[in-house]
Amino acid sequence: MADRYGPLLARVAALEAAGLRRELLALEPTGPTTARAAGQELTVFCSNDYLGLAQHPELREAFRGGGAGSARLVSGNRPAHAALEAALSERFGRPATLFSSGYAANLGLLTTVLQRGDRVVSDALNHASIIDGLRLTAAERTIVPHGSPAQLSGARLAVTESLFSMDGDVAALESWTGEHWLAVDEAHAVGALGPDGRGVAAQQGVEPDFLVGTLGKAFGAAGAFVVGPEVLRPLLVSTARAFVYTTGLPEGVAAAALAGLRHATRERRERLAANAARLRSGLRQIGANVLGSAHILPVLTGERTMAVAARLRTAGIFAPGIRSPTVPRGLERVRLTASSEHTEAQIDRCVEAMDAALRG
Ligand SMILES: Cc1ncc(COP(=O)(O)O)c(C=O)c1O
Repeated sequence: MADRYGPLLARVAALEAAGLRRELLALEPTGPTTARAAGQELTVFCSNDYLGLAQHPELREAFRGGGAGSARLVSGNRPAHAALEAALSERFGRPATLFSSGYAANLGLLTTVLQRGDRVVSDALNHASIIDGLRLTAAERTIVPHGSPAQLSGARLAVTESLFSMDGDVAALESWTGEHWLAVDEAHAVGALGPDGRGVAAQQGVEPDFLVGTLGKAFGAAGAFVVGPEVLRPLLVSTARAFVYTTGLPEGVAAAALAGLRHATRERRERLAANAARLRSGLRQIGANVLGSAHILPVLTGERTMAVAARLRTAGIFAPGIRSPTVPRGLERVRLTASSEHTEAQIDRCVEAMDAALRG
């Protein structure tokens, strides 16, 4: 019996030995951009709550009500789901279908639209949920270098993120379009970028066939949605396993997301852009190797990453190091994110702390 879990213990030990064992840190929010962890006050520079809505009083109030109790197709469909889908459909101009997370949305969309015999072109830096969704299909996969769509001719689908979650750069979506269908994961862009917060595609004047957006990042709640042509929704609702075989979102989450949609205002987007620009310019001034062009600001720190993140934390700035396998070896980084609710003083303090951490 002693080694019943021997193979699992060996894997944990291997992670430990490689310095890749991950730990959860309990953070207690104390404001839109601050939290307490192990008795220490921290300014958070790594949340995807780009508009500071996750702690908004109206969202906190909306997180009420009960669980759905079953999948939406059984007895778990609530008026709050319909209200949220109606608001998203109106905002994005085409029918929207809710999923319980962005991860589930990508799985649901990709496994639904792709079939055996199809070929799909996917950006090399696409998110794990896109990779996993594609792995679940019988489609042939062509993985192209980041930002360089190729071999599109004859493909059924091309799929890319818009604002890349780990590199912070923005795809030139026009170069991904053609005869094939285009799916764009706007997880980090909806709410934060584009007219009415409709994301990068709307900003660039491209209408992807399928758009995935999350409700747990700029909109401050949880869950996700897929927008597409009329024909998509009945297919998703009837056949997407990630929709059919999972419990509906709690009604409070749907209500909070609806409040998040209302509070994702142009004023907040403008403050976010200004804060991101201030942070980027400060980081450049201290000579940091900062990537991206919007509110995700990865600072390449290589093998010093964990030490830099630890020094930042000692200085009261929270942004954990990102390592392999999330990013390739050698390209480890501290991924900073801006919030519309950061103050200028907080941003300047973050730059100072990064300066000291990089020199330390
Ligand atoms: C590009 C991208 N797509 C999808 C997801 C998944 O979204 P969710 O957190 O709602 O599952 C994330 C992040 O978590 C992401 O970065």
